[in-house]
Amino acid sequence: MKNTLVALVVSAFAFSVAACPEKNHARGAHVHIPERRWAPSNLSLPARPLVWGDVNIIHTTDSHGWLLGHQKTSFPEPNYSGDFGDFASFVAHMKELALKKNVDLLLVDSGDLHDGTGLSDGYPPGGVDAHDSNKFFEQLPYDVLAIGNHELYVYANTLDMHQNFAPKFPGRYLSSNANITIAGPDGQNVSVPVGSRFAKFKTRKGRQVTSLGVLFNFTANDENTTVQAVGDMVKEDWFADAIKDEPDFFLLVGHMPVQEDNWPTVFNAVRAVHPTTPILILGGHTHIRDCVQFDGRSIALESGRYMETVGANLDFKKGCTDNITFNRRYLDPNRVTYEYHTRRNAYTFNTSMGSRISTGMKALAKQFDLSAMFGTAPQDYTLSRDPFPSNGSLLSLLAEQVLPVALAVNNTRASVPSLVITNSGVLRFDVYVGPFDKNDQLTASPFDDSFLYITNVTLDVANQVLPALNNAGANKKREVLEGREEELYRRGAVDMRYRRWLEGMHLRASEERRAATNLTLGYVTKDSCPGVGDDTLHTPLPYYSVPDYIGSQPPAVSNDTRIDLVFVNFIQDDVLETVNSLQSDKVYNSSDVQTYSPFLLDEVFGLFAQEKWN
Ligand SMILES: *[C@@H]1O[C@H](CO)[C@@H](O)[C@H](O)[C@H]1NC(C)=O
Ligand SMILES: *[C@@H]1O[C@H](CO)[C@@H](O)[C@H](O)[C@H]1NC(C)=O
Ligand SMILES: *[C@@H]1O[C@H](CO)[C@@H](O)[C@H](O)[C@H]1NC(C)=O
Ligand SMILES: *[C@@H]1O[C@H](CO)[C@@H](O)[C@H](O)[C@H]1NC(C)=O
Ligand SMILES: *[C@@H]1O[C@H](CO)[C@@H](O)[C@H](O)[C@H]1NC(C)=O
Ligand SMILES: *[C@@H]1O[C@H](CO)[C@@H](O)[C@H](O)[C@H]1NC(C)=O
Ligand SMILES: *[C@@H]1O[C@H](CO)[C@@H](O)[C@H](O)[C@H]1NC(C)=O
Ligand SMILES: *[C@@H]1O[C@H](CO)[C@@H](O)[C@H](O)[C@H]1NC(C)=O
Ligand SMILES: *[C@@H]1O[C@H](CO)[C@@H](O)[C@H](O)[C@H]1NC(C)=O
Ligand SMILES: *[C@@H]1O[C@H](CO)[C@@H](O)[C@H](O)[C@H]1NC(C)=O
Ligand SMILES: *[C@@H]1O[C@H](CO)[C@@H](O)[C@H](O)[C@H]1NC(C)=O
Ligand SMILES: *[C@@H]1O[C@H](CO)[C@@H](O)[C@H](O)[C@H]1NC(C)=O
Ligand SMILES: [Zn+2]
Ligand SMILES: [Zn+2]
Repeated sequence: MKNTLVALVVSAFAFSVAACPEKNHARGAHVHIPERRWAPSNLSLPARPLVWGDVNIIHTTDSHGWLLGHQKTSFPEPNYSGDFGDFASFVAHMKELALKKNVDLLLVDSGDLHDGTGLSDGYPPGGVDAHDSNKFFEQLPYDVLAIGNHELYVYANTLDMHQNFAPKFPGRYLSSNANITIAGPDGQNVSVPVGSRFAKFKTRKGRQVTSLGVLFNFTANDENTTVQAVGDMVKEDWFADAIKDEPDFFLLVGHMPVQEDNWPTVFNAVRAVHPTTPILILGGHTHIRDCVQFDGRSIALESGRYMETVGANLDFKKGCTDNITFNRRYLDPNRVTYEYHTRRNAYTFNTSMGSRISTGMKALAKQFDLSAMFGTAPQDYTLSRDPFPSNGSLLSLLAEQVLPVALAVNNTRASVPSLVITNSGVLRFDVYVGPFDKNDQLTASPFDDSFLYITNVTLDVANQVLPALNNAGANKKREVLEGREEELYRRGAVDMRYRRWLEGMHLRASEERRAATNLTLGYVTKDSCPGVGDDTLHTPLPYYSVPDYIGSQPPAVSNDTRIDLVFVNFIQDDVLETVNSLQSDKVYNSSDVQTYSPFLLDEVFGLFAQEKWN
């Protein structure tokens, strides 16, 4: 398994830094939105206009192929329904507004373009992940982009970024601490940055910028790629050279969350040389909305996943040492948001490039046959908004219905009673009522794990495996658990951090204002920066926790009946260790493990839907 989860993201943000007192006149005034010409509807509007400053940034991160936007009608999906064509139109209009206001507007991305939807992953055999969806990304006027860990799990993907993607943004696709090994001119292997290590450029208004593209200390990268730990990177000579001259501001882009990771290492290295230069950090990776200030003249922002946009602006004077006032905003990416902030309506919003991108993506979806139907889902099934177990839980559906049905297909062992166990991190996205097609299958269950089994396990032993696996977690020392989570995190798993974020907003809401209202479901962000964060006000999604491991219903046979114990390959070591601790008839090792089904995890929902949802 590559990683538990992740979807895509596009977020945009702008920031503003306030000035020294004597310069603090009418900058960053509120923009007044003229009366909209389109009829008011039941769609939720942003709460207020963006605040513009001297320097503004639109930020996207962790897009993971979701360029078609969220297409389901179940809440809150319509809030994320803007597609990348709409986003392109939004950026074009924002650029126009920036020109009128005579301010800078930069467009920045923090990585993870691969793995997440049919548009990136639904390519025919022989293709390369995200190669085609990236062609849409390449059409936008990004000023700086950073590499993500999902660009490094598979060598062919990294090579594609190096050879085809990076050249589309000459000098601006940054991989400060991520290299690829390729055959050099003389046939010898050479390790080179996937993109560039840093960029120095001038904004339209002539401001000098120094940029980096930093990846967190990631350890599950493929052979022939190299990730240098962040702490080692800042000791490199090239790093010292790159940050030596003082720019008007540092734009530190990277695939690393703004809290609980190594941004302070990079920040401190820069601050040590430049005590007052404004520093703007644009992070990503844990899929949350977050913001923190490491000091009064810097801001660090993370723009979630699924097209969240943030506004911020910056007014500053070189040499000034006062605190800077920043603004940031997390936008829900949909046409209502985009039209509101660009003062356009349904008839004046689309640009020709935006329309071209929308049309092109639809054509690619068709070419990949993403609408190939498996069946029709009778209701919504969610990963964390319904309790486990329950009728609305996607994990209950998987364990109790999908696996028993799908794994019986073309299986020579089907007549032997069995029990199936999997870890709960195997799914990535909710399934919503309505058509269930190839795109939905790739989105909900993208991992190509196989199913394995050991035979001749008595039912009473098999029945104890699942509780033992889940209790092992509960009984292990906190340090052991933290060590394990840290190890998973280093390999790229972000589930636990994203879930903690959801849980936090759910708990706060119970206290504060669960009953409030007419607000629609969505993210309710509480970060560490002053002022307004969320652009559209919501009431938080309900959140329920799930066990680490889940299993099918035990077969109706006696306790001493010998059955097949089936599991996903990802958890083989844990299962064998547990079975060996529960019985002494036999010591199981990997030579006792056999392949159970010809089908992989990323096919089981389709098989099930074909049989039961048709
Ligand atoms: C708003 O919702 C109400 C109730 O669902 C419906 O009757 C009304 O037509 C909707 N208005 C618009 C403009 O969609
Ligand atoms: C956002 O989702 C809510 C339901 O939670 C829906 O009422 C609203 O219309 C959506 N907003 C947009 C702009 O689609
Ligand atoms: C690593 O790179 C070398 C040189 O280009 C190549 O021969 C080898 O096949 C690559 N290994 C993988 C796993 O791609
Ligand atoms: C290049 O690297 C690959 C994989 O690391 C290795 O198998 C191959 O022998 C290397 N080739 C040379 C010429 O060093
Ligand atoms: C990355 O590539 C550069 C340029 O070839 C090389 O000097 C550096 O040692 C490489 N870094 C790592 C960590 O492999
Ligand atoms: C990077 O992660 C690896 C694996 O967890 C660890 O051994 C190493 O110490 C880390 N390096 C830094 C600088 O954090
Ligand atoms: C400036 O910002 C820092 C860090 O955010 C804060 O500790 C300090 O109190 C601020 N100073 C003023 C004068 O507001
Ligand atoms: C604008 O583009 C969207 C696709 O994102 C399309 O659905 C809509 O019909 C277009 N509007 C106009 C007025 O062309
Ligand atoms: C099951 O096997 C049969 C015979 O080999 C084959 O025709 C059929 O397509 C297989 N079923 C699936 C769902 O692949
Ligand atoms: C099967 O074993 C379990 C404990 O392993 C026990 O609770 C249960 O009563 C047994 N059932 C029968 C029918 O013996
Ligand atoms: C919800 O909306 C209705 C109709 O627009 C309004 O009368 C009511 O006061 C609102 N409730 C709250 C809590 O805002
Ligand atoms: C199953 O286990 C029992 C008890 O250990 C053993 O006697 C028997 O030979 C095993 N059967 C197979 C097929 O491995
Ligand atoms: Zn991601
Ligand atoms: Zn990531």
